[in-house]
Amino acid sequence: MCGVPDWFVAAVLAAVALAAALLATRRCGIPSPMGPWYSDMMMPVLRTGRFPDMVKLHAQHGPLFWWSFLGRRMLMVGTLEAVTRVHLGEGVIVRADYPTSVRKLLGPWGTLNTHGKAHIRIKRLAQPAFTPKAIRGYLPRMQAIAEQAVQKWAAEGDILVHQEMKWFTFRVVVETIVGCDDGWTSPENFPAVSSDFEVWVAGLFRDQIADTVLTLLFAGHDTSSSTLTRIFQHLHRHPEAVQRLRQEQAEVVAKHGSPVTEAALQDMKYAEGVVRETMRITPIINATLRVALQDFELCGYTIKKGTALQCSLTQPIKTDSRWQDEDDVQAFKPERWLHGAAQKQGAWIPFGGGQRLCLGWLLAMTEMKVLLASIFRRYALELRLPEEPWVEFPIARPKHGMPARFVATMDAS
Ligand code: HEM
Repeated sequence: MCGVPDWFVAAVLAAVALAAALLATRRCGIPSPMGPWYSDMMMPVLRTGRFPDMVKLHAQHGPLFWWSFLGRRMLMVGTLEAVTRVHLGEGVIVRADYPTSVRKLLGPWGTLNTHGKAHIRIKRLAQPAFTPKAIRGYLPRMQAIAEQAVQKWAAEGDILVHQEMKWFTFRVVVETIVGCDDGWTSPENFPAVSSDFEVWVAGLFRDQIADTVLTLLFAGHDTSSSTLTRIFQHLHRHPEAVQRLRQEQAEVVAKHGSPVTEAALQDMKYAEGVVRETMRITPIINATLRVALQDFELCGYTIKKGTALQCSLTQPIKTDSRWQDEDDVQAFKPERWLHGAAQKQGAWIPFGGGQRLCLGWLLAMTEMKVLLASIFRRYALELRLPEEPWVEFPIARPKHGMPARFVATMDAS
């Protein structure tokens, strides 16, 4: 083109596009604390393995601000009211919008990739497997899986907690929800099955059923296993919490016997507090992703059609007014959740909300409590690297897999 090099034309076009984006950002008046347009957060996140402290950023810049990640400019949404409004507006003002990698991974028919009527229909198909009645029915199976797991870990002694939690949560989904129980999730078969799973993930299966199952395995596997792994890190640092867990289990067994029934689960209030507090302080999924389907008002600003939104699931829980009078708001304190009111009121959105509410939330809460019961009735976990760092991207996990010694306690039978 008249002797002008291609790279020059491309650079000018890119600069114009970025300037337009920057001007649009400025015009709408929403703060942009990341500074100039070139300050993408990808490099700092990859370098440190950590996302910046969103609580601090929202405290400084308010409920909405811009940031840029992997070249994508997004609007961060950080109050309970605003996040709830966006979640409830699914299909009208916004729709879920995950990166192409997730779309490819889960297939076009995975629930996260379908919208409108197709999404509702596919979710309805899977829903009967997740009702409270269905979960009640899985309890004996879940407890059997947990008991087999603790016996295996006690026999092995040294374990990698994160890997074992993945095995446990994978087995639960496969043997309860997917309904397979022919031994293919046994410890000997798990590595092979897991690599088959990777093959699925690589995209060999492509129909509605396969995509739905794949979403369930994907969504139910890493999330619960990372949360469980985090629980053990917190418990290691809080021996008083372990004592209370043991005490509660002794009382539950005395009252209900050893089967973990629904009534027994309801009496595991402290265990529930441990799970909730872990998800409050160190949530595994930080945000949901949406795109605006039309112009709409949010927190006094006009959000333009096509805007990408990142709705924080952590900010509302961390800054909930319930905790603000307490001077130890950042501390791990499961007893915060012991009052029924604390469990019912306020911000509790680690599982999202609205039409896209996590399908497996009750299964996840139940399987985590069942495993805590099996472990803390008779065993203990001693972490080898208590200060091991965590990598937070793409999903939070301990850098070295959390090596630990799994031991029977004095009262083990
Ligand atoms: C601690 C564990 C878990 C956490 C923190 C979690 C979190 C979430 C969140 C935040 C969403 C909403 C995504 C959005 O709004 O865009 C979601 C959706 C979903 N979750 Fe979970 N989840 C967990 C466990 C599970 C389990 C065990 C299953 C199933 C076995 C599951 C299945 C799903 C499915 C199918 C969706 C998509 C729902 C839809 O598209 O309407 N999750 N999860």
